[in-house]
Amino acid sequence: MTQAPLAAYPALRMRRLRQADWVRRLVRETVLTPADLIWSMVVHEGEGEVPVASMPGVARLSVKEAAKAAREAKTLGIPAIAVFPHIDGAKKDATGSLAADPNGLVCTAVKAMKDAAPEVGIMCDVALDPFTDHGHDGLIEGGRILNDATIEALVAQGLVQAQAGCDILAPSDMMDGRVAALRTALEGAGLQDVMIMSYAAKYASAFYGPYRDAIGSGKLGTGSVDNPGDKKTYQMDPGNTDEAIREVALDIAEGADMVMVKPGLPYLDIVRRVVDEFRMPTFAFQVSGEYAMLMAAARNGWLDEDRAILESLGAFKRAGAAGIITYFAPRAARMLGA
Ligand code: PBG
Repeated sequence: MTQAPLAAYPALRMRRLRQADWVRRLVRETVLTPADLIWSMVVHEGEGEVPVASMPGVARLSVKEAAKAAREAKTLGIPAIAVFPHIDGAKKDATGSLAADPNGLVCTAVKAMKDAAPEVGIMCDVALDPFTDHGHDGLIEGGRILNDATIEALVAQGLVQAQAGCDILAPSDMMDGRVAALRTALEGAGLQDVMIMSYAAKYASAFYGPYRDAIGSGKLGTGSVDNPGDKKTYQMDPGNTDEAIREVALDIAEGADMVMVKPGLPYLDIVRRVVDEFRMPTFAFQVSGEYAMLMAAARNGWLDEDRAILESLGAFKRAGAAGIITYFAPRAARMLGA
């Protein structure tokens, strides 16, 4: 990169360009707009809204409300919604059989949202964890997460989601080879226009805690089969950065149209590296724990809530992200004055 030569003091005054709002806006390098946001949304099978205790301001929505929210997304200029299901505990089992139910909650919600607002993109998580009683993203045998058998289940799930009208499949399971399997299955089913955004660099993170509360995820280490108490054999080690590059390279080679880094703020270095390395549409997931952390501080009066929300989202743009999956989407879009 070329560097402007340093002028001798007193000619060099960095504050000259900060003296008024108009000039700050004029020279701003990155700007956040509602078009950068993917609304992370939790749906449930019941009626009405159920607030999520660890995420003040977030509620599980009924299918009817999700459809209304899709219309709201359109009004607010939010391009897409990522939908996550809260499944009744009694309906879960060891293999997450309901994940591929074409008449299940996810497919019903997708259809309702596409009917209500066809202009809004719908993204579905391809993963078994909302449906397994043990809370893992994979099938388990003898205490081990099975890779290839899990992929078969994911392909079945992805196909019903795509057939229901989902625009973007977002595999979040971290099994090896799932992007290629999904892409091949989509092509085979004549669903070649369905996009794949892979959770390419997804870390085994403590910041997913409130999400498991939001979707009523099975508690790791319990459930119907002997299973590990964490996801470290499939999600990435937080100490790694070169490995993220290899993960992303693989997913692109396998047919991902867009890639994602997750979590968000604690992994901004990875976002920047991935953008610099691949120049692919790269998204960041500002996960549940990041949401909870910010809201907890703000609700204690320790942070200016509105400013902190917009600043945290803007950081992703500065790091080079094409967009952000966030629970703040509707609120941020309103502040940005869509
Ligand atoms: C699971 C999945 C998780 C999230 C999205 N999909 C949790 C996990 O991997 O354990 C986290 C989302 C969030 O924390 O907001 N496939």
